[in-house]
Amino acid sequence: MSDHFSRRQFLSASSLLLGGTVLSGVSKADPNGLLADLLPADGAAKLKVALIGTGSRGAGMWGRDLQRNYSQQLQFVGLCDKNKGRLAFAKNYIGCDCPTFTDFEQMMAQTKPDLLIVCTMDATHHEFIIRGMELGSNVLTEKPMTTDETKVQAIVDAERRTGKQCRVTFNYRYSPHRAKIWELIRNGAIGELTSVDFHWYLDTSHGADYFRRWHRKTENSGSLWVHKATHHFDLLNWWIESDPVSVYAQGSLDFYGKNGKFRAENCRTCPHTKECDFYWDVTKSKYYTDLYVNNEKYDGYLRDGCVFKNDVDIYDKMAATITYKNGVQVAYSLTTYSPYEGYRIAFNGTEGRIDAWIEESQPEQKKDYDELVLFKNFGKREYIRIPHGTSGHGGGDKLLQDQIFLPNIPDPLKQCAAARDGALSCLIGIAARKSIEQKQVIQIADLTDIELMVEKPYQRIV
Ligand SMILES: NC(=O)c1ccc[n+]([C@@H]2O[C@H](COP(=O)([O-])OP(=O)(O)OC[C@H]3O[C@@H](n4cnc5c(N)ncnc54)[C@H](O)[C@@H]3O)[C@@H](O)[C@H]2O)c1
Repeated sequence: MSDHFSRRQFLSASSLLLGGTVLSGVSKADPNGLLADLLPADGAAKLKVALIGTGSRGAGMWGRDLQRNYSQQLQFVGLCDKNKGRLAFAKNYIGCDCPTFTDFEQMMAQTKPDLLIVCTMDATHHEFIIRGMELGSNVLTEKPMTTDETKVQAIVDAERRTGKQCRVTFNYRYSPHRAKIWELIRNGAIGELTSVDFHWYLDTSHGADYFRRWHRKTENSGSLWVHKATHHFDLLNWWIESDPVSVYAQGSLDFYGKNGKFRAENCRTCPHTKECDFYWDVTKSKYYTDLYVNNEKYDGYLRDGCVFKNDVDIYDKMAATITYKNGVQVAYSLTTYSPYEGYRIAFNGTEGRIDAWIEESQPEQKKDYDELVLFKNFGKREYIRIPHGTSGHGGGDKLLQDQIFLPNIPDPLKQCAAARDGALSCLIGIAARKSIEQKQVIQIADLTDIELMVEKPYQRIV
């Protein structure tokens, strides 16, 4: 596989290509930009986008946001979800007028999208990524790309077989604070990077929410080692710019699930609401009521499931040691019942150290910047403040969307994430799960046929 793919290669559908040459079309939106090259010459002036999974993420960031902010560049041609009530609500919420489908194959056959966006439950992503590429679309998938090593291999194989590409929406790379860290490391601010200490804390609100929803079962989410930590492992892979080699992990379920003193099916039917710190009335949110509560009759899915249900089988406390092909070693942990949400991270190098303590939930003292400290061995420390972006996830969401859908956006920080990046971030979490089960170090190279590199290859695919 080539290390360099152009934006054109990713976005252009097979219908745009003839004998390897991109047919030039007429762009009403952007007559001079790169987008002009992407558009079909047959008069269809916009990128044809189909979306599967019209839940919270699909209806919001990959639905309404795209419709509102990028309708000059794209048009929705189909929406699909297995829950017909949620699908109908989402269509209205997104504000598009395309047809809706509960059958994915039918949507693909009828709409022939240039780009398929996948926002379903994690364990199902691979089905749509693979089939989408087989049916001629490029794919943009939410993280995690998938949940086990067999599915990772199947996606990589499908990409090779079809010549189509899959991009993973790693929005965490786009937060200005994390981008600054990348720049400092690449600019040699701490000499040669040797190790990273990375500790992430989910609080008793956001953290608990994973235990209410489908995420609480490994068969759906791959556990938080994959569903959540894929973000963190992707950041590590990107910052370190090398491939992970081995993982040793430990983890347990100490707080949620079977550890509760009482339990119920969900909060609305619970007899313990007065004594439970985790009682949550989902009906106070009109959006959640419209999206989930009103559509329970179609699939029985309860958005306000009890965090202490006995069927929780994911870990709520995790730690791992990860080694990289370039010799960097990482100490990582994830805690899911912390009083505050955020992370502590330190990068140790041969000439200094970068330290950051980020509190993402800080109701008493809201700041509009994040800070890091750059220490020089035998020198002075420097405090660096980085203003927040204004969109979701520290400003990352909008920057990611702009890079994908606006023409001529450069990628100097190599933030674009291809299927290989999606694969390797998942594989660290998958290896961690296996390491706990097998009580031994797991070699990433044993999981798939992806060749591990000292210097992580970069693929600009959009
Ligand atoms: N990048 C981020 O920061 C971020 C944030 C939130 C969610 N996500 C990701 O977005 C994805 C969706 O999460 P969500 O919070 O919107 O969940 P959700 O439960 O709100 O939505 C998932 C939707 O997929 C549908 N679905 C599930 N399986 C399906 C199938 N086989 N066929 C058709 N439809 C199916 C469900 O009915 C539901 O409408 C997940 O993969 C999640 O990891 C990413």
